[in-house]
Amino acid sequence: MDVRKEFLEFFKSKGHTVTPSSALVPDDESLLFTNAGMVPFKRIFTGDEPRPNPPRKTSCQTCIRAGGKHNDLDNVGYTARHHTFFEMLGNFSFGDYFKKEAIAYAWEFVTEVLKLPKDRLYVTVHTSDEEAYKLWQEHIQKDRIYKFGDKDNFWQMGDTGPCGPCSEIFYDQGEEHFNSDEDYMGGDGDRFLEIWNLVFMQYERSSDGKLSPLPKPSIDTGMGLERVVAIKEGKFSNFDTSLFMPLIKEIEKLCKKTYEYESGASYRVIADHIRSSVFLLAQGLSFDKEGRGYVLRRILRRALRHGYLLGLKEPFMYKLVDKVCDLMSEHYTYLNEKKENVKEQILLEEERFLSTIENGLEIFNEELKNTKEVFSGEVAFKLYDTYGFPLDLTTDMLRELNLKVDENKFDELMNEQKNRAKASWKGSGDKVASGDFKILLEEFGVNSFVGYEYLENKSKVLAVLDENFKKNTALKKGEKGWIMLDKTPFYATSGGQIADSGELGNSKILDVAKFLDINLCLVLANEEIKTNDELFAKVDKEKRMQIARHHSATHLLHYALRKILGPHIAQAGSLVEENKLRFDFTHSKALSEAELTKIEELVNSLIIKADEAVLETMPLQKAKDSGAIALFSEKYQDNVRVLTLGDSKELCGGTHVKNTSEIGSFYIVKESGVSAGVRRIEAVVSKAALKYAKHFINESMLLKTELKTNDNLLGVKKLKDEINKLKNELRNNSTNLEFKDVKGIKICVCELKNSDIKAAIDEAKNKFESVVVLLAQVKDDKISFACACKNTKLKAVDLVKYVATLTGGNGGGKDDFATAGGKDVKKLDEALKKAYEKIQEALVE
Ligand code: ALA
Repeated sequence: MDVRKEFLEFFKSKGHTVTPSSALVPDDESLLFTNAGMVPFKRIFTGDEPRPNPPRKTSCQTCIRAGGKHNDLDNVGYTARHHTFFEMLGNFSFGDYFKKEAIAYAWEFVTEVLKLPKDRLYVTVHTSDEEAYKLWQEHIQKDRIYKFGDKDNFWQMGDTGPCGPCSEIFYDQGEEHFNSDEDYMGGDGDRFLEIWNLVFMQYERSSDGKLSPLPKPSIDTGMGLERVVAIKEGKFSNFDTSLFMPLIKEIEKLCKKTYEYESGASYRVIADHIRSSVFLLAQGLSFDKEGRGYVLRRILRRALRHGYLLGLKEPFMYKLVDKVCDLMSEHYTYLNEKKENVKEQILLEEERFLSTIENGLEIFNEELKNTKEVFSGEVAFKLYDTYGFPLDLTTDMLRELNLKVDENKFDELMNEQKNRAKASWKGSGDKVASGDFKILLEEFGVNSFVGYEYLENKSKVLAVLDENFKKNTALKKGEKGWIMLDKTPFYATSGGQIADSGELGNSKILDVAKFLDINLCLVLANEEIKTNDELFAKVDKEKRMQIARHHSATHLLHYALRKILGPHIAQAGSLVEENKLRFDFTHSKALSEAELTKIEELVNSLIIKADEAVLETMPLQKAKDSGAIALFSEKYQDNVRVLTLGDSKELCGGTHVKNTSEIGSFYIVKESGVSAGVRRIEAVVSKAALKYAKHFINESMLLKTELKTNDNLLGVKKLKDEINKLKNELRNNSTNLEFKDVKGIKICVCELKNSDIKAAIDEAKNKFESVVVLLAQVKDDKISFACACKNTKLKAVDLVKYVATLTGGNGGGKDDFATAGGKDVKKLDEALKKAYEKIQEALVE
C-alpha cells in the first residue's frame, strides 16, 4: 500500500487541496527546521496571511527534528521510532471544520483506508477537553479514551507560534511482543504506538509566553509516515520497514558485517542520518560552522563516528546517496538532479572529518582514563574546537559507557569563545512582533505595488508610522517615519534585490521594506505628511534601471552556471544592487579560469542575442510544470511571476529589463568560497561594467608609459628577466669568497660588496669543517662586521672587537659568532689587513 498516496487522495476526496512538501529550511527565523506539517501554514493560522480557498489543505511534509525545540538527534539509533528526518502526513483546516470533522476524518481513514482493527486502537484527549472526549465516543468505546495533561496533549510548534490541545490515536502492537513495565497507555514503552496527532489550534503563544486566541480555531494534524508503514508491514521498528532496510543492507555490504537488531544502533544511525543529509544538501543547505549548516555537520559526523564503530574508516556515506535517491526520488524528484553534487559535498566533509577523527579519539580515550563519572568539559571543548567533534558526538560516545560530560564547563568555554568572536549581529525579528502592522492589515489589507508598470504615480497616504513602527497620524517636517501608500511604485528590499530610492512629494525615500507583506517606505519628511494626503511618488529611475540590469543578468548567470557546471547548481543566496550583483550557489570546487571565461562568454552572448523579457503570472504548479526554476527556500504565493529570458525561466518577484540587450556587457569581478560547498560570483553589468573595464584600460595605459613599451606583457617579461639576472649575480658573489688554508683551518677576511653578509657567513660555516671568517660591509658610511669561528681556538667575539676598535667602533657576541659596527671607513682596509695578520699569527703559534 502506498500510504502517502492513499492519505493525500483521501483528503482530496474530502475537499482538501493537495500541497507539495515545502522546504526543510523554513521561511521563519524562530525555527531551525521545518519540524511539522503545519510549519508552512503558520501565518495562515495566525491570520497574518489570508486564508486560502478552499480553506483546507493536505500534505506529506518532509521534516527534520534535530536541534531546536523538537530535537531527536540524541535518541536516533537507540529507539524504534526516532528520526532526524521523517515525513509527516497532515490535513489542515483554516477556520473551516473543527474537532468534530477532524476526528471523524481521522477515524474513517484509520479504520477504512488503513483498515487497522478497531480493537487495537486507543485515543487520548486533553484533560480539559470535554468536547473531544464526547466526540470520540461516537466512534470508540469510552474505556479506550484516555485523558492526559499538557505534557502529552498540548502541542506547540516552537517557543512561539500557534498551538493548542491535542488528541492522539494509538495502536496496540500486541502484548505478546512487549514486556516492559512501561507498556501501558501513557507509559514510555513501545507497545502502544502513537500514530496520529490531531491538534486543535486555538492559541498563539508570544515570546513572553502569553497565549492569545487565534482569529479562527483551526485544525492541524500529523501522522508519522514511517510508523504507519511499520504497522502496515507488520514491523515493530520503523527501521525494519521497506523505507530503511534497503539502506541497512547497503551498509552491511560496505562494512561486510551482518546487521542484527540488538547490536545494530550504528546501522540505524547511519541509515537515518544519510536521509537527512541528502535532503538538506539537495535543498541547498551546506556544511557550516554555525546555525543550520552546523546541525547538518553534527548529523553527518555522528554518522561517521558510528561508521568508525563498524570499521568503516574511509569515506563511505557518499556511497549511500544513490540508494536514498532510489528510494525517495519518485516523490522528491529534485533528488536525482542534485545527486552528484550531494555526493561530492558529503565526500569532502567526510575527508575533512576523517583527517582528525583518529587524533580526536586518541585524546578522548586518554581522558577516559582520568574519568570516573564526569568527562572533562575542557577536553570536550578541545575535541570540539580542534578536532571538530560536536558536543553531542562526545556525549554519544560517553552514553555507551554510561558516562556524562561536564556540560557547564563546556558551555562556559564556548561562551568565552563566542564573546571573543562576537560579531555585531543584531536581531530583526522583533520589529514584526512590536510594530503596528497587524492593525494596518486589518484596516487596509495589503497595499498594492504598481512599480512593475509605473515609476511615477499619484498615491494616497493610507497610514503613517513613526520610526518605531507605531501608528501616528502625521509626520512633521524634519521627522523620519514609515508611510503606507495605497498604490506604491517603490520596490521593497526582497528576493535579494535592494530597495528603490526616490521621492514622495518633496520628501526623500530612505528605505523601502515589507512587513507582513505590507510595503512601507521610510521617508525623511521635508514637509508635513499626513494620512489621506495625495502625493506624487517618483522612483529614482536611473538607479532602478541599473538594479534591473543587474537582476536580469543574475538570471542569465544562473542559467549559464547550470549550463556549464551542471544542473546541481542551486541558488544559495543573491544580492542585486545598482553597482554589482552577487550570486551564491551550491558547487563544491573553486571554478577554474577556463570555466569562468566560458560562463562570462555565455552570459555576454545571451545579452547580445537581445531576447525580449517575457513576464507572466500563473499558478505556482503550472510555473513549476513549465520548468521554471524556483528556489527551495522561498515561500511562494499561489500565483507567481515567471520571467523568461531566452532559455532561462525563473520564478521572480523582482524588476527586470525589457530586453537582454539593455544589460550591455557583463564581467565577473571575483569568484570565492562562502562555506563548504557554496561558491560566490560577483559581477558587474552596464555602466558598472564600463567603469570596471575603464579602470583596467587606464591602468594598462599607465603601465605602457611606465614601461616605455607598446606591449605591456613583453615589458613585464623583460623586467622579470632583468631581476632574475641580478639575483643570480648576487648569489654568485657570495660564493666568490677566497679562503686560505692555515694548518687545516680555512680563513677569509675581506670586505663584501653586494651580497648578504649573514648569508655568506652561513655558507662558509656549512662548507668547511674548520673556519674563521671575518667579513665587513660598508653601507651609508658605516661599517658592519660579522665573524664566525668554527673548530678553532680563536673567538669570534675577540676578533670583531679587535677589528671594530681599529675603525673607531665596537661590538660583541659569542665565541662562535659575533657582530660589530665600525665608524671610520678610511681605516677599513688597514684594519682588515691587521686582523688577518693577527689571525694567521695566532694559528701558526
Ligand atoms: N503539528 C502536530 C505534530 O507535529 C500535528 O504533532
